[in-house]
Amino acid sequence: MADAPDKLTFAAIGDLHVRDDRTSSYRELFAEVSGKARVLVLCGDLTDVGRPAEAEALAEDLRACAIPVIGVLGNHDYDSGQTEEVARILKNAGMRLLNGHAVEIEGVAFVGVKGFLGGFGPRMLASFGESCVKALVAESVNEAIRLENAMRSVRSGRAVVVLHYAPVPGTVEGEPLEIFPFLGCSRLAETIDRFKVSVVVHGHAHHGRYEGQTPGGAPVYNVALPIEKPGGRPYALLEA
Ligand SMILES: [Fe+2]
Ligand SMILES: [Fe+2]
Repeated sequence: MADAPDKLTFAAIGDLHVRDDRTSSYRELFAEVSGKARVLVLCGDLTDVGRPAEAEALAEDLRACAIPVIGVLGNHDYDSGQTEEVARILKNAGMRLLNGHAVEIEGVAFVGVKGFLGGFGPRMLASFGESCVKALVAESVNEAIRLENAMRSVRSGRAVVVLHYAPVPGTVEGEPLEIFPFLGCSRLAETIDRFKVSVVVHGHAHHGRYEGQTPGGAPVYNVALPIEKPGGRPYALLEA
């Protein structure tokens, strides 16, 4: 895809769930993406259960990628309790991991947090009752605050927000209604809508819908690998 004037084309994909048994390789995909976009954005669940060996397998595949790679971790990357080691391996492979901060590439600010669950709209989980429920809500609020602080550091007029969890219910539609509260949280969208954001990308909802928007009108794309995307490839090509 040729860039429109003054626009940056980036590829986005989430939920690679790389395993260390090498049953899947993304080398060819990363090489293909390098010819079509100027940045590759990875939206979390990069590994299947957060094992360092899985991160090493992904790091090996990322050597085939000739463009800058940025992204966030997902809940699966936390599962083995070795998140720091997973992050270290991916950073050593050249990936820029966003965890409450922003990087600017060719005039576009990429701003990332993992996000968290908590539900949507008036049905969002409230900080009430047991301390464990309050802790869960506090984590959800904290991720929104970290996104806000990262957005405040942006000087570019073009910002792409990179998440793992969904900020709106529109892009999780297709998943069972019962698990909507575990797929994302509206607090992320409330934060996004306080700023000028060109595009939001997320993953996590493997059976959701590709396209949605925040209440304030920011376009939101669920780029989880299994989601069908325009162009028929596992990744989305977007502009900012
Ligand atoms: Fe996933
Ligand atoms: Fe996930």
